[in-house]
Amino acid sequence: MFLVVLLLIASADSYRILGLFPYVGKSHFKVFQPALEALALKGHDVHVVSYFPSNNNIETYHDVQLLDMNNSSEHTIRFDVDYTTRLVKYLTPVEFGEMSIEICSNLNNPDVLKLKDMQFDVVLVELFNTDCFLGLVHQLKAPFIGVASHVLMPFTNKIIGNVDNPSYIPNQFMHFSDKMSFLERLENTFVYLLSHVLHYIYVEQPDNEIIRQHFGNDMPYVGELAKNVSLILVNSHFTLNLPRPLVPGIIEISGMHIGQPKKPPMNIEKWINESKDGVIYFSMGSMIKGHTFPEHKKQAFLRAFGRLKQRVLWKWENDTMPGKPDNVMIQKWMPQFDILCHPNVKGFVSHGGLLGTTEAVHCGVPVVVMPQFGDQHTNARALEAGGGGIVLDFHNIEEDTVYRALKTILDPEFNKKAKQLSERFRDRPMPPLETAIYWIEYVARHKGADHMRTAAVNMPFYQYLLLDVIAFLILALAFTIFIVYHTIRITCGMCCKKTQKVKKS
Ligand SMILES: *[C@@H]1O[C@H](CO)[C@@H](O)[C@H](O)[C@H]1NC(C)=O
Ligand SMILES: *[C@@H]1O[C@H](CO)[C@@H](O)[C@H](O)[C@H]1NC(C)=O
Repeated sequence: MFLVVLLLIASADSYRILGLFPYVGKSHFKVFQPALEALALKGHDVHVVSYFPSNNNIETYHDVQLLDMNNSSEHTIRFDVDYTTRLVKYLTPVEFGEMSIEICSNLNNPDVLKLKDMQFDVVLVELFNTDCFLGLVHQLKAPFIGVASHVLMPFTNKIIGNVDNPSYIPNQFMHFSDKMSFLERLENTFVYLLSHVLHYIYVEQPDNEIIRQHFGNDMPYVGELAKNVSLILVNSHFTLNLPRPLVPGIIEISGMHIGQPKKPPMNIEKWINESKDGVIYFSMGSMIKGHTFPEHKKQAFLRAFGRLKQRVLWKWENDTMPGKPDNVMIQKWMPQFDILCHPNVKGFVSHGGLLGTTEAVHCGVPVVVMPQFGDQHTNARALEAGGGGIVLDFHNIEEDTVYRALKTILDPEFNKKAKQLSERFRDRPMPPLETAIYWIEYVARHKGADHMRTAAVNMPFYQYLLLDVIAFLILALAFTIFIVYHTIRITCGMCCKKTQKVKKS
């Protein structure tokens, strides 16, 4: 009986949904996969273009699998290379342009091309470093939802008309919090303007070329296609990524990838259980490999760990680690979230990737962050501002700085702040996964939900910035001053003549 009711509900508004995830980064897709699977479980017909097929055998979930010919997913980040220079940060949109070539080449995939002949009620497409898939979206004539696995970038704010004021909204590529000094605001504004210009040259123009090559010269300009976005689901939350104004079409769903913690494997759980003073978990994510860890930095960590009462779990890809003190256990792979949520885990040493940071905040574990590249700097600053951790500068890794950073987060007062942040983060009207599903169905239900789009989206920039109004006001003021000045001069001139006449007579 229950099943029949469920089926009836499902068939009442069952939509055909397409997900387009043509970028090879697993941490990007991992954010949205739970929502796609949940939609399929609800009875929607879900088709997903990605590099990562679902393992869950859901009948209504259909994979269109992309093949990683260049082994890009194996691409690793070296810990001994400095990605933190200003120039690297400034030029991020140029790097995006380079990365987009591979993503856009997926438009040639025959299975992707077949989608053109299908009808969808709503399309989800990742908004990251290229918009070339918006050509396909346009051909499908379906409303689309943008999804972002990181804090919104300036060019994404632009397409939905969201406020992005560099006076207090830190640029995603920089390392600022929302309270900036004069010089920081100057640099933040400069990077804000530069990233729009670089994005236009290195991403938007090439995207437009590619779209016209694939779908014909009568395609609208890619910037116009992007403005058609119905809604953006963004993997951020104001408790964790700093508060900022959002138009109604931007929905924050941070925490969506997080499920229930499970028991860690026996040997790890035992190691955690048996530590009287708690455990520190150390992982630099999957992209930074241990063998690129500079020896003196590794030694600094080992010596600092040796001075602690706590035990340490270090995710390390090699079998051995010479000079390892007894309170450190190395493992090639560990279930990060399950470990972080174990009550005896008291600290996390991390590179500041958004997923790991989110998991630590969810579990209430304070973090020592050593940001490396991409959005990690901005994530780290925001986490620090929220009381969830402290930033340890990569250039500054010495035994003493590491030891002091660890002592700071192990302090009970600090732990309390991290727990408070966790409570704020989890306190929502509706769990993030349900929120995402609600809004995806909302867009399908309201055929694109055009009513949510603010007028800012289609305004020319001089109107949006009120440049015409300001120019008018300046002219009006100048005119008034001119009139007043001349009136005074004329009347004054008349007065003076009169007084002169009086004097003469
Ligand atoms: C905008 O989206 C609607 C569907 O919501 C579609 O019919 C229309 O063609 C799209 N316009 C552009 C420029 O892609
Ligand atoms: C660890 O402690 C928990 C809670 O006390 C217990 O349920 C679990 O069985 C212990 N695990 C191991 C491997 O000792």
